[in-house]
Amino acid sequence: MRNEDMDEFVERVRSQSDILTVVSAYVPMKKKGNRYWGCCPFHQEKTPSFSVVPDKGFFYCFGCHVGGNVFKFLSLVENVSYFEAIKLQAEKLHIPLPERQKTPQEIQRDRKLSELRKVNEMARDFFHNCLTMTRYGEAGKAYLAGRGIPDETIEEFRLGFAPNAWDKLATAFLRRGVDKELLLEAGLVSPGKDSSRVYDKFRNRVIIPIADERGRVVGFGGRVLDDGTPKYLNTQETLLFNKRRLLFGMDRAHRAIQQMGYAIVVEGYMDAISVFGAGVRNVVASLGTAFTVEHCRKLLRYAPRIYFCYDSDEAGQAATMRALSIVRETGAEVHVIVVPDGKDPDEYIRKHGAKAFEALVKKAMPLVEYRLQYVLGHTAYDTLEGKVRALHEMIPVLSGIRDAAELLEYRKKLARVLMLDEGIVASEIGHYAGSRDPGPQVQTRGRPAAASQDNALRRAGRIVIRTAWQDVSVLAHVRAMLPLDSIHDEAQREIMEFLFSCQEQGKPLDDVAATESLSEAAATELSRAMVETLGGREEAEAYHDSIHVLRKAYLNTLYMQHSRKAEEYLRSGNPGYREELAEVQKIKEEMDGLQIG
Ligand code: CTP
Ligand code: MN
Repeated sequence: MRNEDMDEFVERVRSQSDILTVVSAYVPMKKKGNRYWGCCPFHQEKTPSFSVVPDKGFFYCFGCHVGGNVFKFLSLVENVSYFEAIKLQAEKLHIPLPERQKTPQEIQRDRKLSELRKVNEMARDFFHNCLTMTRYGEAGKAYLAGRGIPDETIEEFRLGFAPNAWDKLATAFLRRGVDKELLLEAGLVSPGKDSSRVYDKFRNRVIIPIADERGRVVGFGGRVLDDGTPKYLNTQETLLFNKRRLLFGMDRAHRAIQQMGYAIVVEGYMDAISVFGAGVRNVVASLGTAFTVEHCRKLLRYAPRIYFCYDSDEAGQAATMRALSIVRETGAEVHVIVVPDGKDPDEYIRKHGAKAFEALVKKAMPLVEYRLQYVLGHTAYDTLEGKVRALHEMIPVLSGIRDAAELLEYRKKLARVLMLDEGIVASEIGHYAGSRDPGPQVQTRGRPAAASQDNALRRAGRIVIRTAWQDVSVLAHVRAMLPLDSIHDEAQREIMEFLFSCQEQGKPLDDVAATESLSEAAATELSRAMVETLGGREEAEAYHDSIHVLRKAYLNTLYMQHSRKAEEYLRSGNPGYREELAEVQKIKEEMDGLQIG
């Protein structure tokens, strides 16, 4: 398919898509002026802060700060990629996808993928048969029996055993005509020193097959029978096996996750197997790697809530904290299941049984509560310094709470345990929220005045952007008033650059082009600019004020620079001071002449 065909397709879908119609299918929207308001589908709220301006084609939530065009909305609400969202919408509108011929590379890749899947499936059956039907499997059977794993579980997960030999699998597979290269590529064998020979990668280990969502085997985890290392050996990264995306157990769990409305994430294969065996079926495990945003998005396709159930030792708690920070911006509603006394879920179930584990699930802690306990447990908050540290650890979490009553409650609680004045806690949260733009990583301990001025500048920047978007001819004026590098906000600078380049190349501005060219932060800021109200002013008036506010801030910096230089020259007897002073005077005159309504 040619690129133009694709552009034409996207253009057609976009022109037939009305953002208000699309959004209204998910969120009831109410009209107010020329915009519509509803409760945001991306975070919990009771009063609407989610807004759509249909004739501009953008949405923005003033509560959780997500925004974009119609396709961005669909991609978020359906948890699919941007392009998938376009295809979804095309389907709804009965617009056919342009015909497309696969390239030879794609055909080859498809063939390779299917060969890899096939050889993995053969390997799964090979290991499983070794365990259940041959004498090689005896050690594996004894090991699993020792861990209390019943035959039904062995069958359910198709667990297997890799014989204690160098090349049982290699020999068997080569004899059956499997290509040596394919075995290497699948990570089932490793090359020997003598390149003509290969050796089985998995030897004398219990084998846990790992499947993708559709149940196709993509790799293996192999556990030693004793205290040897590594405890687990996993398939290397292959075309099929990507640890950042895969979750062990997803093939069995996804229906239960959808039904229950939440997923339980554990750290280990054996944890997932035990939890599943205990009748709790909405469980998955990450594959010995940290929990990623990709994992999170995958789970969110099935349910809005994620319960982490990691080991309760120090390492497990630290991993929980990392996972929590990963998912924070995805809108997932997070809980933590705490397993008492240093155990992992598998050991807990073995010792206390399935019912006891179900009780732990019922007692899962909301994210904020867990975070609070963790911070209190890890900070010596009996000194003033410790109190401040604990407070600052908690602020980002607290300011993420959307429900006012809940926030109030946690504010009280935090003030009480830290023995701080509640007003201090409230004002710290206020500072953080005020300057929390564009991201939560921003350091916010600074002066509130600076933060709010920064917000005024950002707001002015958005109004300029909004005006330029509707009428690019003002860009000449913008350029004359504001050098690009005087725009402090990175996202806004990126948008301005985009506007200038579209103007230079005579390209029309549309939301699709913007979404495709801009970074996530810039696209969101643009949406905000398009949806934000003008505070009761006319468009032209708002632009006039805003450009002058920005110009004044820019002149202010220049004023400071030249005054400093003049002073320096004066001190060192450099006659250049006259020029600098003249410059300062000129800047001052312009500043005084600026009228801001
Ligand atoms: N892991 C790994 N490689 C290792 C150790 C661990 O890939 N050398 C991964 C595995 O996916 C394992 C998970 O990390 O399931 C958790 O590791 P750990 O807590 O050490 O093991 P357990 O799950 O408790 O394993 P077991 O109960 O079999 O001892
Ligand atoms: Mn364990």
